[in-house]
Amino acid sequence: MSDFVSDFWSYYVGIAVILSIVACAWLLWVMSRGKTTPNRPLKEGEDPRLAVGTTGHVWDETLEELNNPLPGWWAGLFIITIVFSLVYLVFYPGLGSFQGQFGWTSVKQYEAEKQATDAAVAPLYAKFASLTTEQLAANPDAMAVGERLFLNNCAQCHGSDARGNKGFPNLTDNDWLYGGTPEKIHETITKGRNGVMPSMAAAVGSADDVTNLANYVLSLSQSGGDPLKANLGREKFVVCAACHGPEGKGNQAVGAPNLTDGIWLYGFGLDKVIAAINGGHNGMMPAQEGKLSAGQINILSAYVWHLSNKAP
Ligand code: HEC
Ligand code: HEC
Repeated sequence: MSDFVSDFWSYYVGIAVILSIVACAWLLWVMSRGKTTPNRPLKEGEDPRLAVGTTGHVWDETLEELNNPLPGWWAGLFIITIVFSLVYLVFYPGLGSFQGQFGWTSVKQYEAEKQATDAAVAPLYAKFASLTTEQLAANPDAMAVGERLFLNNCAQCHGSDARGNKGFPNLTDNDWLYGGTPEKIHETITKGRNGVMPSMAAAVGSADDVTNLANYVLSLSQSGGDPLKANLGREKFVVCAACHGPEGKGNQAVGAPNLTDGIWLYGFGLDKVIAAINGGHNGMMPAQEGKLSAGQINILSAYVWHLSNKAP
């Protein structure tokens, strides 16, 4: 399980690791050899140990730095770390792409931990599995679990209050790109969605045509715009109708937003509409199957549904 693009990097890392360990061992060996011979004549009455193996560093006239080997216990600790690293490298990955005798990988460990957690919480979800969306939505325990799941997995994009942000739809307003039935919400969460609007500038025509059309789009939701230009832009809307529908009411099969409701996924205003026509959009809702269990998706679907539907 290595992501090296070529064997070279595997060898490069492996050799660098081995050389570092050898260098540490060599350093330890050199530094722990016996004391060096006296490097200067003894002064009168001086303890001979002091004249043995100094580094040559002297402070305050007489204060010399001795060059004694490391104490045995200390050198011993280093030897233990070196032996430990060698044993470790035999059993665990560390030498380039060599996997180690245990075949351990972080991915396997993650899978194992995830399985253990899933198994531990399975009874909790089993309790809810037989309930319908409406029943789940009316069940405070289920909704408490749903809220926690939402905060952990969805809030980074849709906001902790699920009201969304530019490009990330509001899930509380009962306005749906892909449909708000429990089945559609479940499908959205499980499989993910990708709303694709290609750049339409070429199909619409000149920059003036684009501006006129954008004014027409604004007029669909009485969102202002110049009525004269809107009139001129009206006929250009045929190229948009394929996805947004002849009246601009959108199409949930392709996730084309309703342009008549005054709710804007990418923000409101002439600039925004012109940008949409010229640049297109590509909204991505990541699929959750594989990441979340069926039981978790079940509860999340009910949680999202209940944000804009009162349970009976
Ligand atoms: C990485 C960002 C991201 C995360 C995480 C994310 N979403 Fe989404 N979601 C989006 C985007 C973007 C869209 C709109 C897709 C589009 O424009 O076509 C979307 C669309 C949706 C829709 C469809 C709304 C509609 O109007 O039809 C639902 C429902 C939804 N998300 C629920 C969830 C839930 C539940 C989670 C947590 C499990 C979640 N999302 C996590 C980005 C995200
Ligand atoms: C191939 C289908 C397709 C065509 C053709 C198309 N659109 Fe779209 N349009 C979409 C989709 C899908 C989205 C949502 C993109 C997303 O979710 O990221 C969108 C988004 C938009 C938005 C943003 C809406 C918002 O709520 O912020 C505007 C405005 C828009 N389209 C206008 C137009 C106009 C004007 C035309 C004609 C020139 C057009 N579209 C043609 C599919 C299409």
